[in-house]
Amino acid sequence: MNEASTIARNDSTRVLEKLRREAVGLDAHYPVAGGGERRRTYLDSSASTLRLSIVQEVLDRYQPHYANTHSTLHYAARVSTTEYDWAHRVVLEFTGADPVNWMCFFTGSGATAGMNRVARTLRRARPERDMVVTSMMEHHSNDLPHRKHFPEVVHIASESSSDALGCVDLARMREVFEQHGARINYVAITGVSNVTGIVNPIHEIAALAHRHGALIVVDAAQMAAHVPIRTSGHADPARDLDVVVFSGHKVYAPGSPGVVVARRELFASTEPEEVGGGMVDTVWQDRYTVSAGFPEREEAGTPNVPGAIGLAAALYTLQQVGMATIAAEESELMSYALAQLAGVPGITLYGATDPKVCVRTGAVTFNLEGCEHGFTAAVLNDYFNIAVRNECFCAHPYVREMVTISLEDSADGLSNDELELLAQQRRGMVRASFGIYNTRSDVDALVAALHSITARKDELLALYDRLPNGDFRHRTFSFDCANAFSVRGAVDELLGV
Ligand code: ALA
Repeated sequence: MNEASTIARNDSTRVLEKLRREAVGLDAHYPVAGGGERRRTYLDSSASTLRLSIVQEVLDRYQPHYANTHSTLHYAARVSTTEYDWAHRVVLEFTGADPVNWMCFFTGSGATAGMNRVARTLRRARPERDMVVTSMMEHHSNDLPHRKHFPEVVHIASESSSDALGCVDLARMREVFEQHGARINYVAITGVSNVTGIVNPIHEIAALAHRHGALIVVDAAQMAAHVPIRTSGHADPARDLDVVVFSGHKVYAPGSPGVVVARRELFASTEPEEVGGGMVDTVWQDRYTVSAGFPEREEAGTPNVPGAIGLAAALYTLQQVGMATIAAEESELMSYALAQLAGVPGITLYGATDPKVCVRTGAVTFNLEGCEHGFTAAVLNDYFNIAVRNECFCAHPYVREMVTISLEDSADGLSNDELELLAQQRRGMVRASFGIYNTRSDVDALVAALHSITARKDELLALYDRLPNGDFRHRTFSFDCANAFSVRGAVDELLGV
């Protein structure tokens, strides 16, 4: 190893340590049911990552120069336009997409807006191919847009080994391609499941799709923060990705726009789905000409400039650490979490946990025996200030399937219909998900809390009411959000009224 690479590695470690310590909200304290308050343990990064302090600082420095990118002349508009353009370049670099043949644009509400745009555009651009292949593992955002815009969507199940589901079943996908290859417009596949953190073999799927003239659309919402993305430049170009969609709110940026990275040609042949200001060259009373350039064509209306700048700051920061380094660190944390959680009495961990079966990153889901997911999540929050998400994570079919499998063992004598009903009633899990700022001590806090819940289950259950929607409410302890924050309270205080 030469000196330069040693320095680079030291630097990367230093930056990573800095980022770990400095995410906004890492030090949030909230009251707990046992009395007093505790520092929050944030295990909900699959829903939204905390923003990096560095991103916040960059945004604060940008704010005085904020202006509309459609104004081009005055200084702030020039600063905003220059940095907004740079944000696109950083996205392409971060996703390993060659800027000559790929472009990117920002959309509205996260990955969902991006997927809807992709589905509408590819349906129109390739009308002769009227089928989409997707998987049972998908978040609704990578399922419903395809169902809405295509007459037929095939959902491929996951591989099953020792009763635990793993990656998407490639053998089954091959069969579907053999049968319907000429009809398939694209495969829409998640890079990483938002429920189990299972990583799919997207480049193998790309090669399969391309052999049949189909495209691959990757939902990278849960991938971008955890593993490197390489869109183009593979030795075998068939392994390149045609479209990659993700969102800044899962990559350490605040509520930033959704992002679509795509081969230029796919969006160049049809008129953009969204029309309005900023995407036209000239408008007459009876016609208009659409701009030929990207991203302008696909970004009608005033863009979310601060969102894009926050996103660019986050991606550029992650690049300074290196996504391979982050992936390796998180892989170690995931192995530790799986091993520690497996020791909790009565726990069911969902999805394959053997790394030889499939790789996982970012999230782990579970249930405790005799505890509804709503109860476990409420106690984790109320007594331990551990923030997790529960229910179905906008992935109903996948969650239902895994809950059904776990019930099968204990449901001898039930008919399929009864089992389905039981799975419907028990549908839901608790998810702990990780970001760059999580450490073994966060896992230890979770595991200790789960041991305590298991040991004191009956006593704790008696302290809660089950609401009709499945939530659990503590009988005597309550949390008043306004004590922590309210817009009105903050404005009043700042105005001194
Ligand atoms: N898609 C987000 C999640 O998985 C909201 O929690």
